[in-house]
Amino acid sequence: MLTNTISANVTYFGDYNGQKIDKLSLSNGNNVTVSALSFGATLYEIISPDKQGKLSNIVLNYPNAADYLQNPFYVSMAIGRTGGRIKNAELELNHKTYKLEANEGTATLHGGPHGFNTHIWDSQIIDEAGIPAIQFHRLQRHSEDQFPGDIDVTITYRLTEDNTVKIELAATALNEDTVFNPTYHTYFNLGDSDTILDHELMVDADTHLAFDANKLPTGEFIDVDNSPFDFRKPTSLGKAIEVMQNTKEKGFDDIFKINETNQGQGIAVLSDPNSGRSVTINSDRNGLVVFTANSFTHDHMNLTKTNGLGMPYEGVALEAQNLPDATRFNDFGDIVLPKGDTVAHEIDYHITF
Ligand code: GAL
Repeated sequence: MLTNTISANVTYFGDYNGQKIDKLSLSNGNNVTVSALSFGATLYEIISPDKQGKLSNIVLNYPNAADYLQNPFYVSMAIGRTGGRIKNAELELNHKTYKLEANEGTATLHGGPHGFNTHIWDSQIIDEAGIPAIQFHRLQRHSEDQFPGDIDVTITYRLTEDNTVKIELAATALNEDTVFNPTYHTYFNLGDSDTILDHELMVDADTHLAFDANKLPTGEFIDVDNSPFDFRKPTSLGKAIEVMQNTKEKGFDDIFKINETNQGQGIAVLSDPNSGRSVTINSDRNGLVVFTANSFTHDHMNLTKTNGLGMPYEGVALEAQNLPDATRFNDFGDIVLPKGDTVAHEIDYHITF
């Protein structure tokens, strides 16, 4: 019989508005540790050995609680109720228009100014048949974010013996039909270099979304064929970003439509030949945002990785979600959560080294 090697630990991380922020961790017998903060249900770190056994954190983070309060890049935070941009901060549901709050020009980005990432969540270590897991819970109310109805949200982190971090995001619509399209804004940097330019990326996507000038989807899908967006085979991010230097973005901030043929063989694989680490992402959703941190600056961003100064391409955010603003387009998928129903979405990161 396999012995359970998963252990759990809770420590104090900092304060917010007089409330304490906890850091909750799970570790396995292979020296892999995942930690999350009760502020924003944030993925704080995944510590993994490299091919030589040296331990490093492979997701971007900040050293202090205060940094997470000033966090325009949503560094590795939980995003909800809906990831991505909603045009004109208007959500159409059941022939009714809900006026949301705008937080990027006239659009609502990543759940708006009172989304999942802005709250302290109730947190605890739970016991699942003898195996510990991290659980966050909160009621997200219509009165705080203007989305339809109240939802009861639970986020559960699990760590397996074979080095998979599993994050489950579950919601129940308490009193109205609503929408639920959460994600995690996880920035990976798998190596010891300050950038991900040496990393390789595979994304199982034949198309990506066309945007207007405000990064709002137009509804069109663009073939990745013969373009720097073709990541169907493992491809150097540095080389692809080089080709993108003639664009305004100077890198990727794009949404890929995951191929329908994907059956859990990894919607994306990120690997770093230098450290030998690799992450395979699985999710049942039809979209993946790839954001290569193009707009990170050399200002004092205070990211732990670079001891203060930030830099473009310091990490790559891989955000598994349903395609954004989905109620506006017939073929973007269904994010409606009917009153009384519960839905759970899982994002898995399988780490090898
Ligand atoms: C991404 C989005 C980017 C940027 C980033 C947060 O999901 O695609 O445009 O807003 O989040 O800085």
